[in-house]
Amino acid sequence: MNRPLKLGIAGLGTVGTGLLQLLAEHGPRLAGNVGRTIEVVGVCARSRSKPRSVATEAIAWFDEAARLAADPAIDVFVELIGGEDGAAKAAVEAALKAGKPVVTANKALLAKHGADLATLAEQQGVALQFEAAVAGGIPVIKTLREALAGNQLRRVYGILNGTCNYILTQMQEEHRAFADVLAEAQQKGYAEADPTFDIDGFDTAHKLALLTSLAFGTRVAFDQIDIEGIRTITQADIEAADDLGYRVKLLGVALMTDSGIEQRVHPAMVPKHSAIAEVSGVTNCVAIDGDYCGNLLLAGAGAGAKATASAVASDILDIARGDTPPPFGVPAGQLKAYRRAKLGQHQGAYYVRLSVFDRPGAMASIAGRVGERGVSLESIVQKRPPGAQIGIAARGRPGAPTPVVLITHETTEEAIRGALSSISEDGNVSERPQMIRIEPL
Ligand SMILES: NC(=O)c1ccc[n+]([C@@H]2O[C@H](COP(=O)([O-])OP(=O)(O)OC[C@H]3O[C@@H](n4cnc5c(N)ncnc54)[C@H](OP(=O)(O)O)[C@@H]3O)[C@@H](O)[C@H]2O)c1
Repeated sequence: MNRPLKLGIAGLGTVGTGLLQLLAEHGPRLAGNVGRTIEVVGVCARSRSKPRSVATEAIAWFDEAARLAADPAIDVFVELIGGEDGAAKAAVEAALKAGKPVVTANKALLAKHGADLATLAEQQGVALQFEAAVAGGIPVIKTLREALAGNQLRRVYGILNGTCNYILTQMQEEHRAFADVLAEAQQKGYAEADPTFDIDGFDTAHKLALLTSLAFGTRVAFDQIDIEGIRTITQADIEAADDLGYRVKLLGVALMTDSGIEQRVHPAMVPKHSAIAEVSGVTNCVAIDGDYCGNLLLAGAGAGAKATASAVASDILDIARGDTPPPFGVPAGQLKAYRRAKLGQHQGAYYVRLSVFDRPGAMASIAGRVGERGVSLESIVQKRPPGAQIGIAARGRPGAPTPVVLITHETTEEAIRGALSSISEDGNVSERPQMIRIEPL
């Protein structure tokens, strides 16, 4: 047997303790598989006295992650602290500069500094592995970087945030309002006390930035992503989607087009009988369209101690075997500059919900505004206003707003946005129009 592989682990929270548990449970079998034992020789966290679910007393303690990262006793540094800068970044840089391979689960760090860290790793001739950074237990990094390397990929998209998918699923299944479900998710620990990062789409965008780079061989470009979250989704949208044969999902989409790459995070309508529509609750999924592999869908646990530890362990085992390709699949210097496709040129069908004042000429004016921009409609449905009773009054009070749902044929984002802005200016609607893209599957 070869000499042991010695790990330094910084961060003993959900993922760090999950990893220690996995190594304790499966260590002997893994040693047999890779031909060397894997030993944890140093750990670091914020508080030494905090009770942990796994025993760490026999392992050397470090107060500072960067000191552990550069310590001569370790072969591999495992960063499980989190955060795009601060201690995590300092420690990862310290490890790479000391010539030590790094395994991290930190999507925020990589979305911001991925290209620079990959360059540093390459200069130092060491690995930088991050399987756990996207979609937890789903092995999507390795799939894109290695298993699908022979393909020209056209699109990678998915449900990359369990909190948002849980909220949208509950809104769908229990007919509850967004705020109500969010409060419950916070109570159950599925959503943070400050949920901004998840529900406004930033967490999805961090993961998407990494998938895009792997899929298209471009430099990580988090700041080029068009991001919308799920705060504006109402029960009316969920119900209208259901009537029309759709589900609403927060998607991260990276799409290669003739004018560049679209990277977008937004709520989208997907056909309700599609596989992605069936991905419910906190489950994540990633769909990949390639020229030779066809369409793939990987689904599973996107977070949690065990699923994430599984992904971190896979990176450690690759390093133990000496099997470490460049972080983003091609040498950092060969990553292409990112070319952004303008969202205004995005081609697709759209769902629009308007709250239209019930007065003569309003609908004709709306249809005119849509027509002016060359947008053609597949359907237009006037819904019962809230409070109107079935069979007694299909319409509300004269002049009161009535929900109207439009589905467009394929058009550009510029055209539909232009039409909606004219409709708002005309004063025939009582609130800002809701617009949701329909993702073709
Ligand atoms: N949780 C998941 O399901 C999941 C899934 C995929 C990826 N990830 C990623 O995995 C990483 C870790 O997430 P987590 O959920 O395990 O976080 P966590 O439970 O909050 O744990 C963070 C750990 O980092 C330690 N820490 C914080 N600041 C530190 C510092 N300055 N120096 C040293 N240690 C410090 C904390 O110490 P104390 O314990 O002493 O406070 C804690 O042990 C993040 O990058 C996250 O995005 C998490």
